[in-house]
Amino acid sequence: MKKEWWKEAVVYQIYPRSFNDSDGDGIGDLPGIREKVDYLDYLGIDLVWLNPVYDSPNDDNGYDVRNYRKIMDEFGEMRDWEQLLDELHRRNIRLVMDFVPNHTSDEHRWFRQSRESKETPYRDYYFWRKGNGEEPPNNWESIFGGSAWEFDDPTSEYYLHLFSRKQPDLNWDNPEVRQELYEIMNWWMEKGIDGFRLDVVNFISKDPDLPDDPEKGPYGSRGSKYYVDGPNVHRYFQEMNREVFADRDAVAIGETPLVSTEDGVKYVDPSRNELDMIFQFDHVTFDLNEGGFWAQPRDWKLTELKEILNRWRKLTSKTGGWNATYLSNHDQPRMVTRFGNDGEFRRESAKALAMLLLTISGTPFIYQGEELGMTNYPFSDISELRDVQTIQQFNEMKQKGKVESFDEVKEEVRFWSRDNARTPMQWSSEENAGFTDGDSWINVNPNKDQINVEREKEDENSVLQFYRKLISLRNEHEVLVYGSYKPFLKSDEEIFAFRRKSSKEATTTMLNFSAEKKDLTIPDELTGTESELLLSNYPTRDSELSDVISFRPYEARLYKWQ
Ligand code: NOJ
Repeated sequence: MKKEWWKEAVVYQIYPRSFNDSDGDGIGDLPGIREKVDYLDYLGIDLVWLNPVYDSPNDDNGYDVRNYRKIMDEFGEMRDWEQLLDELHRRNIRLVMDFVPNHTSDEHRWFRQSRESKETPYRDYYFWRKGNGEEPPNNWESIFGGSAWEFDDPTSEYYLHLFSRKQPDLNWDNPEVRQELYEIMNWWMEKGIDGFRLDVVNFISKDPDLPDDPEKGPYGSRGSKYYVDGPNVHRYFQEMNREVFADRDAVAIGETPLVSTEDGVKYVDPSRNELDMIFQFDHVTFDLNEGGFWAQPRDWKLTELKEILNRWRKLTSKTGGWNATYLSNHDQPRMVTRFGNDGEFRRESAKALAMLLLTISGTPFIYQGEELGMTNYPFSDISELRDVQTIQQFNEMKQKGKVESFDEVKEEVRFWSRDNARTPMQWSSEENAGFTDGDSWINVNPNKDQINVEREKEDENSVLQFYRKLISLRNEHEVLVYGSYKPFLKSDEEIFAFRRKSSKEATTTMLNFSAEKKDLTIPDELTGTESELLLSNYPTRDSELSDVISFRPYEARLYKWQ
């Protein structure tokens, strides 16, 4: 396995709007992040992924970019960004920017010109089509609800937007569009960043015929089969690699919703020169019911989750490809609420999940607050929501008469809404959890008195301290980065177990994924000589790997052996 810095890195994702507010306007900002670089250092992470900080009208919190070369006013100025980068680099923390190549804001200069007339050279930067009689050009649906087409008065045509109507899709088949985007990426690279996270990057190539989709897609929206992993996507990734990444030691991380395993494995096959790693979505969509985000998640079995994580590892390992591991981010429910137990066993399950994240193969991505065991939010009224996706879909259902009141969908919103992950970082038990002196743009979770950085720092058994230990263990034991990955007990519904192995040492991770006790006979392949317990989330006397272990609820153990 070829050594690369980004394989050894532990990544911390920062959602700037909700991280730390330095000027009291209720919105997190870049100087606020800079104030917390000490904290990042204390945690031990090596790489920060910053969600978009570009100039934006914020219809989708920065994923609608108005100017790719300017910093969003609310977050500060270019100087603040430069100071942040310097401060991070001074501590040997690298920085990855979030790049949004699939769409711009409708307020972007290109789109403003594009919508003016059919003749402008910018027309072909986007997808413009005549309507089908009174109907939109095809039946594709926006991922945020409603048609994916918006009628535009000046030229009486429709434009395509897979996300909100303020996020028109760029036409990647136009070589000028591609060159413009590569130029912007190179401009940022020259400012000294260490790579990009590429937003919905496997949506960039659409079937040129834009055909009607007879079926509902996996998120309940029509059209996805004509733009997910589309016809020219590999060619464009290779071109982007040549134009931007080839001569640099920078990382390309693709966000690839609904990616097929076949294409995903190709994206990260090092011999193809496309991307370095991708966020696949199978383990964050497998619990969706038919009603999508407006139904409770379906019951799932641990064997299903294991099968997904194991399958991606097995397939990518065939070509020497790498995985990005995540259990939460700014679009997903809080990890402990979704995969663990946010009641009685909150701490234990948050730690068990942390152990999974940091000892399984691949680069681990920690989402802000996850290292405290932060939970979902108890929303009780639509006015508490800020996310365009939740609000737009709720309004649409109301209009269609499918729901009358928020109460009817409260539980679903409390589980799925992206705002669960976007409540402010909990720094202390002070007002607004120490996030802002002003009025926070979104409510702070009422559990801030129990869950916050200040408390977690003081308590040696906290979730935060457990993350710190795991991160330093990963740095001390190369086997946790480059060792082979082999899962065991594949059909067990309570225990997640795997081995990492190199020529020098081996480790065994065992997690009880249930709130029940469980006795387990340890398979021979999971143990050897000189075994030693490296970390556990319960006090334990079994310092060596014994034949039978009695696991307590959500108990997690990491052993090393020869
Ligand atoms: C994926 C991002 O993670 C999400 O937050 C955003 O809404 C969509 N892409 C559209 O850019």
